[in-house]
Amino acid sequence: MIIAQISDTHIALDAPDADQRLRDFERTIADINALDPVPDVIFHTGDIVHNGRPDEYSEAARILAKASAPVYVIPGNKDDRTNLRAAFSSRGYLKPGSDFIEYVVEDYPVRLIAVDTLNTRSNKGAFSPEQAGRLIDHIDAEPTKPIAVFTHHPPFDVQVGPDPLNFEKPEMMARLRQTLQHSGRVVAVISGHVHRGTAGHIGSIPATVMPSIATTLRKGEYPGHMKVRPVYHIHRFNTVWGFAVETRIVDTGISVASAS
Ligand SMILES: [Fe+2]
Repeated sequence: MIIAQISDTHIALDAPDADQRLRDFERTIADINALDPVPDVIFHTGDIVHNGRPDEYSEAARILAKASAPVYVIPGNKDDRTNLRAAFSSRGYLKPGSDFIEYVVEDYPVRLIAVDTLNTRSNKGAFSPEQAGRLIDHIDAEPTKPIAVFTHHPPFDVQVGPDPLNFEKPEMMARLRQTLQHSGRVVAVISGHVHRGTAGHIGSIPATVMPSIATTLRKGEYPGHMKVRPVYHIHRFNTVWGFAVETRIVDTGISVASAS
């Protein structure tokens, strides 16, 4: 099973770098479409847009509609749950009725569980006891397959950024970490938010973070020729070895139009 992860596209139509953010997003989808084999799924780990506006989501949905593989999304701190849900509801996996954007994808050898860490009080993440209860239910719903969990905010101390803690309160992150280790079936935790590539652990579970697709917002040192080349992650699952993570540099020579 192959998962292409994208994150932190921050579509903002009024920003000075609005065109570059759109270009980065389009080029990344074109690059994923050109992979052989094409990934089974594309997972966007949040901050799809920058201001939560419907017109920003329209642009994001237009670009994601070009993807060859099914696309799943979770919200980041810059997203708006209502507008996100409206933009992507036609895809069927965002069930109406719940405020939180939490769901399970059961169609693959690895179960994919979406966790919503958006916190309307802060750019940092939140995770409540009620959410922990629902995540345990999601984990326990199927007892045989491995599980990959997707969160916007990484649930480990990120040592390479300015602030290691990406949750509003340490106990929120501790609650999520404890829940992820509940049954031993979670084999990968896949996140975004910090705009740079890094990795950590939740107990013995490997956890990865990808850079922002928006090159103008990407953190860390990149050489000049990389400045407008987005970087994303491919997660390949093997039943013996678990997940292997590959960092892909987008080929900006691919025609965005022809890859649609
Ligand atoms: Fe972000």
